[in-house]
Amino acid sequence: TDPKKVKLGNGTDVLGTRVRVFGRVHRERRQKEVMFITLRDGYGLMQVIFTGPLAKTYDALTLTRETSMEICGELREVPPGAHAPNNRELHADYFKIHKGWKAAGGDDAITNRVSKDTEHATLLDLRHLTLRGETASKVMIVRDAVEYAFNQVYKELRMRKVSPPALVQTQVEGGATLFKFDYYNEKAFLTQSSQLYLETCLPSMGDVYCIEKSFRAEKSLTRRHLAEYTHVEAELDFITFDDLLDHLELVICRVVEITMSDPTIAKHVMELNPEFKVPDRPFKRMKYSEAIKWLVEHGIPNEDGEEHKFGDDIAEAAERRMTDIINRPVFLTHFPVEIKAFYMQKDKDEPLVTESVDCLIPGVGEIVGGSMRMYDYDELMAAFEREKIDPAAYYWYTDQRKYGSSPHGGYGLGLERFLAWLCKQHTVRDCCLYPRYFGRCAP
Ligand code: 4AD
Ligand code: MG
Repeated sequence: TDPKKVKLGNGTDVLGTRVRVFGRVHRERRQKEVMFITLRDGYGLMQVIFTGPLAKTYDALTLTRETSMEICGELREVPPGAHAPNNRELHADYFKIHKGWKAAGGDDAITNRVSKDTEHATLLDLRHLTLRGETASKVMIVRDAVEYAFNQVYKELRMRKVSPPALVQTQVEGGATLFKFDYYNEKAFLTQSSQLYLETCLPSMGDVYCIEKSFRAEKSLTRRHLAEYTHVEAELDFITFDDLLDHLELVICRVVEITMSDPTIAKHVMELNPEFKVPDRPFKRMKYSEAIKWLVEHGIPNEDGEEHKFGDDIAEAAERRMTDIINRPVFLTHFPVEIKAFYMQKDKDEPLVTESVDCLIPGVGEIVGGSMRMYDYDELMAAFEREKIDPAAYYWYTDQRKYGSSPHGGYGLGLERFLAWLCKQHTVRDCCLYPRYFGRCAP
């Protein structure tokens, strides 16, 4: 009978049996009569040993890294001291490199094109190959788990997933970052956020969420801005601002908990980010006005190099320094009306500020932006006017305030930023498959 075909990160049930595996040569080394290779298949690594005639065949002697192989042999347990992945070793008795499976060696080998010193831009030009590297593939595998965890948490909270359009004719976060395009001779944009569409789902579906792409024509090259990013957005009906903060804290912590409950994923995270620990609850809550005072006290200047004053934007550098010093997640709340989006609800007692929140996280800064939504029709129309946005195209949004309005709120979380924090990556560019940012739209 044919040996059982198994993936490399398989369970203990196949130990001691003869198995068939497929994968690519991750590493290889020779010791006199013996050849060791580490095989990789995206599920794990496996040490394979070739001895006797098998190690002396033409294919074995000319083996190049990344070559695909089919291998059969007995899977044996080895002591931890042997440094074999998962403490197991495959003793090969048969292998085959099928037609077309051989990887380029010599000057074309990946390892000759990419080294530790290769420029980041070159690594991204070769993203289709560098994705095979240990760090890149771990981040992508953790990403899959995190996305799954968000879905799971939202299901625990009985929220429903929807899929709003990406091609739109309305803006959400300001005209400066809109990608415009010609839509059958009409002006249209790539969506900046699905928020407005989520709000329209509340009356029919209850609390909703989506995990979709958002697009921003960001012209600054920072380590946390992409032109296309994955946006986890949610909208909750009949809530207070405090409910929104409690919900956010729960979602973030529960996503971490679910992600880390898978031993393979937890191992990847701890290898990428050895100091990682689940954040303590409750998160620190700080009003914007307190943050301004804090920045002044700590001598951290604004973008113009001057002392921060009420009404200033807290720019990326200052925000990051503040978060790193505080060194725990912070809910920064109650931003002034002028520096926030038109749709944000004003605070009842302090009408100069909004019921808004940014969640800041050490190493990254803002990972979430959210708020309560203005739900009074006249107030919303006044906000459109203040922002000089023509409300005509927003009739489907403003109508929500005519047909049974409600106190509601929501938020958007940048998945790549969340991953940059969890996996301790310097830039969000390394937290997506094929990053898009100013100057790059390929591969
Ligand atoms: O703060 P933002 O702009 O808020 C909104 O878009 C709201 N309409 C969301 C909502 O309430 N439904 O964006 C939300 C989050 C940010 O906190 C950040 O994590 C991420 O989206 N983000 C980006 N991530 C990568 N590249 C960019 N250019 C990003 N812009 C925002
Ligand atoms: Mg924001």
